[in-house]
Amino acid sequence: MKKTLEAYRFYSIFYAPIALLAYTWIWRGNIFKQIRFFRDSLQCNLHVLDLATGDGTLTRAALLKQKTYPKPHLTVLDISPDMLRKAISKLPSDTTVIQGDVMNLPFEANSQPLVTCFGGCNSFPSAEGALQEMYRVLQPGGYVRGSVLLLPKAPWKQRKIHAWIEKGYQSEVIHLEAFVSWLHQAGFTLTSKLRMGDVLLFEGRKG
Ligand SMILES: C[S@@+](CC[C@H](N)C(=O)[O-])C[C@H]1O[C@@H](n2cnc3c(N)ncnc32)[C@H](O)[C@@H]1O
Repeated sequence: MKKTLEAYRFYSIFYAPIALLAYTWIWRGNIFKQIRFFRDSLQCNLHVLDLATGDGTLTRAALLKQKTYPKPHLTVLDISPDMLRKAISKLPSDTTVIQGDVMNLPFEANSQPLVTCFGGCNSFPSAEGALQEMYRVLQPGGYVRGSVLLLPKAPWKQRKIHAWIEKGYQSEVIHLEAFVSWLHQAGFTLTSKLRMGDVLLFEGRKG
């Protein structure tokens, strides 16, 4: 936890361009597809709980810079005060901003219609435990939508990821089969799964 906070204090200074570079170059993701997938979570509900919102760049691009859906109401949560400081300057003033731990969400069970979590699962103490916590707070019939970064094949990329884990930017290596089984074990029905490069876009429904 301390390592994550320190890593993201530093990362927050120039997060968006570096994250985009790594996303495209290491994981071969398509940021426009990810933004569309994130944006279309609004077809489920306009009250969004966005976990690991980071510096708010992606959340703003996906949910606010769009004309397809009415303006959503956002509750955003992240453990890093440095990332959240940036997010506050990018998100509307009526956004509820919470500094908190995804492993212990400050919400009642069955209280949230829609949870989004893009890029967060790779940084949590346990992606498996975080998925269980997301399931707990979702309303029956509610949805989670997010992305997760899978371990690339190239040895040099794998070395980079292990170095980032060592430094606290990430916390664990995630494989496709394990992630899908964690979703199922948490109780989710996997309603959408789209892979691009080593990025997995996923949607799960509670019940
Ligand atoms: C890779 S960033 C993703 C940010 C943003 N969603 C995006 O895609 O650009 C991961 C974020 O997870 C946050 N994080 C790490 N551990 C956390 C935890 N236990 N609870 C909540 N947020 C956490 C970090 O502070 C960081 O902002």
